[in-house]
Amino acid sequence: MGRTDRGAAPEPTVHEADPVSRPEPRGLSRRGLLGLAGAGVAGLGLGVGGDRVAQAAVAAASPSAAVYPFYGAHQAGIVTPAQDRLHFAAFDLAADATRDDLVALLRDWTAASASLAAGAAIGQFGAASGSYDAPPEDTGEAQGLPASGLTLTFGFDPALFETPAGVDRFGLAARRPPLLVDLPHFPGDLLEEGRGGGDLCIQACADDPQVAVHAIRNLSRIAFGRASLRWSQLGFGRTSSTSTSQATPRNLFGFKDGTANIKAEEPAVVDEQVWVPAADGPAWLAGGSYLVARRIRMTIEAWDRTILREQEAVFGRTKGEGAPLSGGTEFTEPDFSLAGRGDTPLIDAAAHVRLAHPAQNGGARMLRRGYNFVDGNDALGRLDAGLFFISFQRSPEQFSRVQLSLARHDALNEYTRHVGSALFAVPPGARRGSHIGAALFA
Ligand code: HEM
Repeated sequence: MGRTDRGAAPEPTVHEADPVSRPEPRGLSRRGLLGLAGAGVAGLGLGVGGDRVAQAAVAAASPSAAVYPFYGAHQAGIVTPAQDRLHFAAFDLAADATRDDLVALLRDWTAASASLAAGAAIGQFGAASGSYDAPPEDTGEAQGLPASGLTLTFGFDPALFETPAGVDRFGLAARRPPLLVDLPHFPGDLLEEGRGGGDLCIQACADDPQVAVHAIRNLSRIAFGRASLRWSQLGFGRTSSTSTSQATPRNLFGFKDGTANIKAEEPAVVDEQVWVPAADGPAWLAGGSYLVARRIRMTIEAWDRTILREQEAVFGRTKGEGAPLSGGTEFTEPDFSLAGRGDTPLIDAAAHVRLAHPAQNGGARMLRRGYNFVDGNDALGRLDAGLFFISFQRSPEQFSRVQLSLARHDALNEYTRHVGSALFAVPPGARRGSHIGAALFA
């Protein structure tokens, strides 16, 4: 049974990731999907795979009405236009879980995710129409809400392949990508217990926080007895654009963030920097990516007492327009060689954009997809706030190279602290009738 309507909502727009295998919700669809017949189904039949078509369509639609199919060549939630809300969760498999349990869990998660992404309730009877003698199949808090652009992106931690003690729990050790090893300790890292690791991760992004939380809650529920939550993070405002159709958002320091990010409209760059090509191996990961997550605490109170000139010097960009300090407008390429008075460079040697720029890092780039967070305050009355940094790249080395350069010299370090860290291999998208990570177990 589908979710119950709660009132008028915008007509949905389906962003077709895989025109051949568009998912149908297992449960009855919500109002949004039923309205599809009359709505413009942007992108249908264009014959272009992946998330790229989504970019063309998104500008026209109300974001809460967006529907991104779960099945496709690549997982959704990477080049998909960054939604506004995040619920990220990492899971530990049960100590007695077997390889069969793991495969069954991925199969169940896949089926549920296809329904959730389509805006449908989980199971045959959903939240309120099943047996009175059993808990409902769907927890129900998303009844009446549109799909809200929900994407669910799954990843595998190095520990899934082999525990730190060298135990091969699921017969996967030989299939671990050689690059999938825990990130190194970077200078200044102050990682806290319980803010990293796990066997599996799910990144839920949506334009409605209730939809993202509902997804993680129900996927956790489905995992009961097989896997349990290890750590999780809510994010409330995207800090990157991943499409040229999106305005650049702002981080909690008040600066535009995402200006020079990789955009979905640059397919050659996405292919070169984000997707793992078959030639890189292993074969099961072709079309996938690597996800880095860093919980970066921002010392808001210190920043808020910092003068504007210093704030701009830290980033190397203006606070209003987001233009490089070497001149121009937001999207003008920074000129790091331009000197101001007294021969000092207009963009400081320690400025964040200089040190993070591909020119300083052997051409390495990444697709950033982070979120602001505020998790209350600490015992000293300071906001526990910052950036939940997420990036996708073809190799973890792209992140490590840039992060090493930032960790050593970035002027921003005076105002930030890396307290959480995780790395996951993100398998390619699931084909209809199959499940996430199927090739890993083939
Ligand atoms: C709290 C921490 C951080 C904040 C507030 C922050 C903020 C920003 C801002 C405002 C920009 C300029 C606008 C833009 O192009 O997006 C930027 C650029 C960038 N940042 Fe960060 N950032 C943080 C951490 C990181 C980390 C950990 C990495 C990767 C290791 C990173 C990688 C980049 C890259 C690659 C660019 C684009 C550089 C370019 O090509 O011009 N940032 N960041």
